[in-house]
Amino acid sequence: MTKDGDKTPETLRLSVYLARAGVASRRGAGDLVKDGLVEVNGQTETNPGTPIRLGIDHVRVDGKSIKKLEPHVYLMLNKPAGMITTRSDPEERPTVFDLLHRVKFRVEAVGRLDWDTEGLLLLTNDGDLAQFLMRPQNKVEKVYDALVEGKVGGKTVQQLEAGVKIEGRKTKPARVKLLGKPTNVSLLRLKIVEGKYHQVKRMCDVVGHPVKKLRRIAFGPLFLADLPLGKFRYLTKDELRELRAGKLTCDEV
Ligand code: URA
Repeated sequence: MTKDGDKTPETLRLSVYLARAGVASRRGAGDLVKDGLVEVNGQTETNPGTPIRLGIDHVRVDGKSIKKLEPHVYLMLNKPAGMITTRSDPEERPTVFDLLHRVKFRVEAVGRLDWDTEGLLLLTNDGDLAQFLMRPQNKVEKVYDALVEGKVGGKTVQQLEAGVKIEGRKTKPARVKLLGKPTNVSLLRLKIVEGKYHQVKRMCDVVGHPVKKLRRIAFGPLFLADLPLGKFRYLTKDELRELRAGKLTCDEV
């Protein structure tokens, strides 16, 4: 399985593969190949552009085996409430990684969701992309549906949009929509670009409407759609293309 969820293995050019394995720079690796010092699956290979299938092909340099490179994998999980996002917990609560036993690569969550929050969580072993998405200055948009206590009025929506004070600092402008007001509760959709600890819960607390239930439905260009609770799927090629191109918002919400 590739990062894109299809059956075609991810490939890298031989010189790029050697560079990513830390053997040499790309150019240096190209020279090693042209000099006939590199074998692929037991055969000398002199073309630096030869595609190498990650996790499948066996590469040797000067007779020494190069550890097989793992393909990058990217998955979207619909996290249920009642699970933590870290790998281990002193209280031994269930973790989201318990849901990923079929994934053979060690992925990490891109950011966190609270124990009692459900919804879209991105997991990957691509550290560069994860870092990009988590850097606050990149302002990746996150969309949450929050069921809050009480009847929210238009003024409160404006307050949340303009920014409220958390720990003495005003939150960045947000987009907030009132989706409905059943008895004694309100359903809000909040689009925010920050990811402070308990951000949405604290924003709603400040305006006097504590969160009863929270669900993230979008992260950057990714949309949760109808992925069942507790299930994961690999990102599609289009989703990955958007993420890599730095798209920070979701067209579906
Ligand atoms: N804001 C919160 O309060 N909790 C989350 O899990 C995510 C955003």
